Amino acid sequence: MHHIAIEPSILYFGTPVVLLSTENQDGTFNLAPISSAWALGQTVVLGLGRDGQTAHNLTHRPDLVINLPAPDQWPAVERLAPLTGRHPVPATKAEGCRHEPDKFGAAGLHPAPSHTVRPPRVSECPLHLEARAARVRPDAEGDFLIVEAHVRKVHADPRLTVPGTDHISPAAWSPLLYNFRHYYGLGPELGRSYRAAAPTAAGR
Ligand SMILES: Cc1cc2nc3c(=O)[nH]c(=O)nc-3n(C[C@H](O)[C@H](O)[C@H](O)COP(=O)(O)O)c2cc1C
Repeated sequence: MHHIAIEPSILYFGTPVVLLSTENQDGTFNLAPISSAWALGQTVVLGLGRDGQTAHNLTHRPDLVINLPAPDQWPAVERLAPLTGRHPVPATKAEGCRHEPDKFGAAGLHPAPSHTVRPPRVSECPLHLEARAARVRPDAEGDFLIVEAHVRKVHADPRLTVPGTDHISPAAWSPLLYNFRHYYGLGPELGRSYRAAAPTAAGR
């Protein structure tokens, strides 16, 4: 295989999009799309721009919900993209970014009460992880916050589960992927890990 050396301005190589609901100082709730998120056991690690409202909220109020949208919900995600809950808008935000106190309304999404944390879930998202930030610290450069959030409760659309089990069916669930700033879903299954628990078409 032949390779060339390149210098891409971003390295977003395709990670799932989540919508983080967090609590603002005045008791209202913020909602923000994030793609720097991955799971380690029952912990989800998040990478947040230091100046955003989400970073500010999690520094002071650790409760959050990690809401996972389905691929066809990308327009709602994109409606949130130019918005911040921060006022005034920090100079470090991307050009065109504007303050919006009602992110749920702006996205056309609806809050549903959580069971173990204060911020609400996003009713339209098929998967919700209620969580609490256990550690929030700056990255080595000081531009981002690295958040370790412990998941306390998981809610799933029952159509995504393997009936009678606690498994999410990988055949039924597809994340929304942020692939170098473009939105994608998954293609057909290619194979399974030797540790896969739920049966799938390729695994049977
Ligand atoms: C699909 C998508 C993925 C994003 N991923 C991240 C991310 O991983 N970390 C981050 O800090 N911002 C990310 N952003 C940008 C934030 O959503 C944006 O800065 C927003 O203004 C944050 O809102 P807040 O200031 O109310 O927290 C992403 C935006 C989009 C649309």
